[in-house]
Amino acid sequence: MADIRVYASALELANNFSEYFLELAKSYEKENKKLHIALSGGSTPKIWFEILKDRYLNKINWKLIHFYWGDERMVSPDSEESNYGEAYRILLNSSEIPPENIHRIFGENSVDDEIERYSDYIFNKLNKNNNPPSFDLVILGMGEDGHTASIFPYEMNLFNSVRLCEASIHPLTGQKRVTLTGQVINNAKNVAFLITGENKSEKLDCIINKKEGYKLYPAAHIKPVAGNLVYFLDAAAAKLL
Ligand code: 6PG
Repeated sequence: MADIRVYASALELANNFSEYFLELAKSYEKENKKLHIALSGGSTPKIWFEILKDRYLNKINWKLIHFYWGDERMVSPDSEESNYGEAYRILLNSSEIPPENIHRIFGENSVDDEIERYSDYIFNKLNKNNNPPSFDLVILGMGEDGHTASIFPYEMNLFNSVRLCEASIHPLTGQKRVTLTGQVINNAKNVAFLITGENKSEKLDCIINKKEGYKLYPAAHIKPVAGNLVYFLDAAAAKLL
């Protein structure tokens, strides 16, 4: 049975996810282990970044937290479209967070070069016993079309790629993206979906209740091989569950 946690609002979701993250960070700190986290883009995580900045900077040992991205838009980090850029401007520019712990995707590179570079980078940083890289926590959103990370329904083949990262193209804007592939996401120890908004409710119902056609959506294929999966939802997104 999926671990589904529903909150009245996106803010309440973010407040509770902050406590979830704090507990995870503390458990890693007890063992003096690094916590490698892959962030997502989108609007929901930004609420969480603001909360961490406001209330958690002195509660977490940031020296052990290493930030990566599950997907990135191929734009300059200065762009407001940049997932790294937004996280940096809201949270990661804090003096408590060591710059060497930030492992961004270079949106300013050519997408073909960057998927190679980032694949090698995460393999070397996270590789254990030659298995696919295993993040300690992958944060994901879901688009109203059922995409997650930057794997879109029309490019489902990318989910099952043998590569660690792939290049994708946003179906509406044509924007080039780098995304982790399914094998990396599903090899994570913990995966947290942060999903808000009534416009996600239909797809979420279809995916959670395995209704007709659910397998068409990349978000339906997030099934950690051995890790934990938690859905953090606001009431609007969960209204049909
Ligand atoms: C991105 C995200 C994307 C996002 C979803 C949900 O780079 O756009 O990684 O997968 O998580 O589109 O976005 P919201 O949180 O804004 O609903």
